[in-house]
Amino acid sequence: MTDQASNNKSGFMGWIDKRYPWTDFWKKHLSEYYAPRNFNFWYFFGSFSLLVFASQIISGIWLVMEYTPTADGSFPSVQHIMREVRYGWLLRFMHTTGASAFFVVVYLHMYRGLIYGSYKKPRELVWLVGMVIYLMLLMEAFTGYVLPWGQMSYWGAAVITSFASAIPYLGDVLLIWLRGDFNVSGVTLHRFFSLHVIAIPLLLCVMIFVHLVALHHVGSNNPDGIEIKDKKNEKGIPLDGIPFHPYYTVKDLVGVVVFLMVFCYIMFFMPKMGGLFLEPDNFIPANPMVTPPEISPVWYMTPFYAMLRAVPNKLFGVITMAAAIALMFVLPWLDRSRVRSIRYKGKLSKIAITVFVVCFIGLGYLGHEAVSPIRTLLSRLFTLGYFGFFLLMPFYTAYESTKPLPERVTG
Ligand code: HEM
Repeated sequence: MTDQASNNKSGFMGWIDKRYPWTDFWKKHLSEYYAPRNFNFWYFFGSFSLLVFASQIISGIWLVMEYTPTADGSFPSVQHIMREVRYGWLLRFMHTTGASAFFVVVYLHMYRGLIYGSYKKPRELVWLVGMVIYLMLLMEAFTGYVLPWGQMSYWGAAVITSFASAIPYLGDVLLIWLRGDFNVSGVTLHRFFSLHVIAIPLLLCVMIFVHLVALHHVGSNNPDGIEIKDKKNEKGIPLDGIPFHPYYTVKDLVGVVVFLMVFCYIMFFMPKMGGLFLEPDNFIPANPMVTPPEISPVWYMTPFYAMLRAVPNKLFGVITMAAAIALMFVLPWLDRSRVRSIRYKGKLSKIAITVFVVCFIGLGYLGHEAVSPIRTLLSRLFTLGYFGFFLLMPFYTAYESTKPLPERVTG
């Protein structure tokens, strides 16, 4: 805490500032954090992710009050929440809609990073921490999905944990270690409960904090992908920067209102989203003796599931899935372009991003559908497209010609 900050304030805030750097914190991260003035629609999704995270924690706390994490008690306790607990249905739909909303906003947030090159130097760590968050979100979603102990919970857990058995030599031991039993059972449910309500959310809190500290250390990127810190006025303030508070807090608040309207509409009127957010088979209690006709994960995992099914060999399928995620981690080192933003990149990068989007969405669709020869062929093509986007990136970004960068941010 600087003396100045504590001297400036009197009364209660002065008292606090002498003991805790509140005003310094407020200035550094809000009222004197200079963000580029050209943030657009894509820059809403970081704040929306924070909002959904908070909403998940709050609805989750209340759900846990009535939920029973045992093989016999779980399914009935969810029915109890839905039918008997006052507003229990609302809490549950808040949480299930929130899970899908989380992935919608995080995927759009990642896409923004992709098109504006926000992963490039000096923001590699912001991106890497983001990727760790993404992995933890996948784990959080998977462990949560097991908790209602419906057919999809059970069989989803069986399929996903069985990936471990593809690993040579160690696989079988690892599988039992993961499940805590010879099969998916109440023991598995109980440990997933523990991970879902404590371990992963706690780590997520820490990682989100680290993500924002890393971002504020280097400063935000923007749609032009040029550094606003390069052009400052005599006071050292970036010419193209505006204080985050009040400008972006107010702007984000407007976005939040619109987002909440869409969120509430879905939560109240279409919480199952035609089986995409809540799958019909999961309204049947788990039965280890009956395998559902089609086992597919929830939509946000289906792109990777489609890749797994596209590869005939289980071990290579699992490796393909892991490689698909690993490539996202090394993205900052694959892009060798002189510019960050897609606005100034060449044609090849634009084609590559379009191919990537088509392949990712295509895989997402195929991973949700039953297998057929034509679908398998398409999944293979899209998997190749996905990998091509990353693996060819060092070449097309280095050789294509780029547009000249503007002196100052545009728009
Ligand atoms: C719980 C999940 C997440 C939360 C709450 C979160 C939050 C935020 C916030 C509040 C910002 C600043 C505002 C903005 O630029 O939109 C931000 C920036 C950023 N995030 Fe995230 N994030 C999350 C996940 C991710 C993931 C999964 C990635 C990528 C793998 C990622 C990559 C980035 C990048 C690169 C920036 C800097 C963007 C720029 O300056 O252009 N984030 N994040």
